[in-house]
Formats: sequence, structure tokens, C-alpha cells
Amino acid sequence: MVKIKSTFFCQNCGAQSSKWIGKCQSCNEWNTYIEELIQKNDPTKTIIIGDSIKRSVPNKISEIQSKNNHRFIFSDKEFNRVLGSGLTPGSVVLIGGEPGIGKSTLLLNLALKSNFKILYVSGEESDDQIKSRADRIGGSMEQSYLLQETNIQQIIHHANNLLPEIIILDSIQTLHTDHIESSPGSVSQVRECTSQVVQYAKTHNVPILLIGHINKEGSIAGPKILEHMVDTVLQFEGDRHHMYRIVRCIKNRFGSTNELGIYEMTSSGLKEVDNPSKVLINNHQELLSGVTIAATMEGLRPLLVEIQALTSTAAYGTPQRSSTGFDLRRLNMLLAVLEKRCGFKISKKDVFLNITGGLKIDDPAIDLAVICSILSSNFDLNIDSKTCFSGEIGLSGEIRPVSRIDQRINEAEKMGYTTMYISKYTQDMENLNEKIKVIKVGKVQEIVKSVFK
Ligand code: TYD
Ligand code: MG
Repeated sequence: MVKIKSTFFCQNCGAQSSKWIGKCQSCNEWNTYIEELIQKNDPTKTIIIGDSIKRSVPNKISEIQSKNNHRFIFSDKEFNRVLGSGLTPGSVVLIGGEPGIGKSTLLLNLALKSNFKILYVSGEESDDQIKSRADRIGGSMEQSYLLQETNIQQIIHHANNLLPEIIILDSIQTLHTDHIESSPGSVSQVRECTSQVVQYAKTHNVPILLIGHINKEGSIAGPKILEHMVDTVLQFEGDRHHMYRIVRCIKNRFGSTNELGIYEMTSSGLKEVDNPSKVLINNHQELLSGVTIAATMEGLRPLLVEIQALTSTAAYGTPQRSSTGFDLRRLNMLLAVLEKRCGFKISKKDVFLNITGGLKIDDPAIDLAVICSILSSNFDLNIDSKTCFSGEIGLSGEIRPVSRIDQRINEAEKMGYTTMYISKYTQDMENLNEKIKVIKVGKVQEIVKSVFK
């Protein structure tokens, strides 16, 4: 018998309650409970896939036969890298990101340029729109199928007929299942659809790529449990107004989460960026004050980024501090260190800081470059364009060692830098680099004397 039941769900965390409550007891958010209708125990609509009702028995781990470790390798090297050398059969990958950042473009690009039979299901755009985008991107298109559908049972039906090797669903928030009455995008729909998607992927050993919207706080919309249900969570980052995009791995059951992929948005879709250090640094012909190069790490990848600072006498009483791509609180801390430990009078100056390319860097190793670029702008003295920096600044003005210094030095050398400043306290460093001069400094005062001679 069909039983219709209504339950209240927290739209923030997915917690359930039989009656409306103002404050969610699990995530402490206010006014997030919304009533959703759930249709339960409908025998006509229960689908049993394959042998999912097989009896379970405990097995010894040592006796379990490991399956063939074949993975789907795409022509997109950055995507393979983020997934940890390719896509695992039967895995479910969730890709989240802001609207317009390029999620659909990235996955359509994969579908068009690979040799696998791919079913791209779109609940957001019409066939025409996708076709015109596909024409812009190019590729063989021979093996890619497009389906305009939002009902999960229909999608599974078509997948059973077509037998694709990979399925792409754009997006999880537009899907709905017959089992539940509430509207697409609601917590119970998202949860139920995801569980059916996961079940299909596991029983048919077909990998599924799911696109997910994000909410205004920046996390994936829908219940938190969504991220627990899938095998891999990727996050698409970047500034819509800049060309560069980063795909970062947040969770991965089949590889490391330290990997990231870097792309450039062009008029013909997303292009992989093989050598990010090269594109992130402008090759200025003339020397400019306030510009420095920092050797940072994004995940496991060394990366050279350009930092620009501008200091000027505050026009109004309170000086302004603003930063793009760098934590403002950390900038304030570095300015306090410069003021208190080194005696530079910058408390009355406006300070603006910018990391070029629209990147956001959390690595504290760029502190040293940030300080040098502020001082360079303050003195109006440029820094040699073949010099780069890598070091964290402590509260007493000491320069602290950073992780993976060898990789950073190698990258700087590869990019043609001739001098690099690092912490005096760096240990276990194999200095095999002959072309680059590594200068070790212990305090901010020392570096000032050495850089601005
Ligand atoms: P889209 O993939 O639709 O974003 P999402 O699915 O994350 O919402 O990305 C759309 C943006 O990408 C759009 O603002 C235009 C830009 N774009 C290009 O610059 N070049 C292209 O070739 C394509 C296809 C999109
Ligand atoms: Mg889209």
C-alpha cells in the first residue's frame, strides 16, 4: 500500500525531525527546516537491480580476490592526475563548484574527447545548447550520447539499454526519483537519488560523474551525507573573471587528496595547463617595484606565483588593507611583524596585495615574498627579477623552514631563477642545484639588508 508521510528536513545538514523546529539541533542553524513529502513502501516502484539481494557472508580479507585494477584513462592529463591516475570502475565522483565556473564544460570536454562510450545526462540544458557548446569544444563525439532527462528511474532504464562505460549526470540537484514526493534539489530527493546512483554504479561497475551545485557558504548543496556516500569529491575553484581554474580533490577513496589539476578557460573550452609556473608569472620587460616571486606548493605540485603589493600614504585617517588571493588576517599579522620587529613605519600606509592569476594561496611559505613585495613598494626599489622566495614568517620576525624545499628549489631553477631566499633553519636539504644560488636567512632584518642593498 502506498503510504504518504511528511517529514521535516534541515536544508543545511539533512537532519530529520517529525515536527517543525526553529533551530536545528545537529548543525545549530536557524529556520532551515522544511516539510517534505515522502512516499514509502510502494511495492510497484521498488526496483531490484542485479543480484543486490544476495546474502552476505563474512570473508577473510586475505582470501578476497582483488579485482583487476584497470582504470579509465582520459586524454585530459590533469583530470587523470586529480583522480589519482584515472577513473576507477564503479566509482562515483562528485564535482562541486560555483555556477558558471565550468563544471559542465569540463565534463562535456571529457565526454567528447575520450574513446569510451559515455552517456551525458543533462537536466539543466537543452540538446541545442549542449550541441553548440560541443561544437565549440570540438573532439570526435563518436562515442558520446546525450540524454535529456531528470527522472532517475528513466535514466537507469536508458543506461540499461545503452550500456555506457561511463555516465555523467548534470546535475544531482535536478534529478528526482519516483519514490519520493518532494521537489528536486530538496534534501530527501538529493539523498535518495544519490543512493540510487551509487547502487547503480556499484552493481554495474560503471563509474558515474555527478555535478553538484554549491550553496552560498561554498559547500555542496544538499545533505552533508552526500559527500560521505560518494567515493571521490572534487572541487572546482577559481575566479570567474580570471582564466585559471583549479580542480582540487577533497576526498578520494582511490588516491591521494593532495593532487590538483590546473586549467585555463579559453574560447574553445577548458585547456590543461602543463606548466603553471610559466603562465602565472608575467615576464615584465622593465623592473617594477612591489613585485616578487614566491615558490609555493599547491598540493604536491611546486608552483611559482607572482605577488604584487602597493603601499601608499593613507588618504583618510584609517589606513586601508586589502588583499586578493591572500588571507587578510595573515597580511595584517605580517604588517604588525614588520612594524614591531623591524621598525618599519607602515601603520599609516594603505597596503594592497594581489596574487596574480586569480589564485588563492593558503601556503604560509609565501609570507617571505609578501613581506619583500610590501617593502619593495614601500622603498620604491625593485627586486631582481631572477630572485624568488620561500619561507614562513613567525611572530618574532624569524624566517621559518617550509616543507618540500627541494621541490621548490628545483622548480625555481627549472624556471630560470638564479637566486632563492629560504630559511636558515632548513634541514635535510640536498643542495644538488648548481645553477641557482640558495641564500639562507634567519630574520626579516637580515633579508632586508641582503635584498635591498
Ligand atoms: P559552465 O560549464 O556552463 O559552468 P557550470 O556548469 O559550472 O555552471 O561554464 C560556463 C562558462 O564558461 C561561461 O561563463 C562561459 C565559459 N566558457 C568559455 O569561456 N569558453 C567555452 O568554450 C565554454 C564552453 C564556456
Ligand atoms: Mg552547468
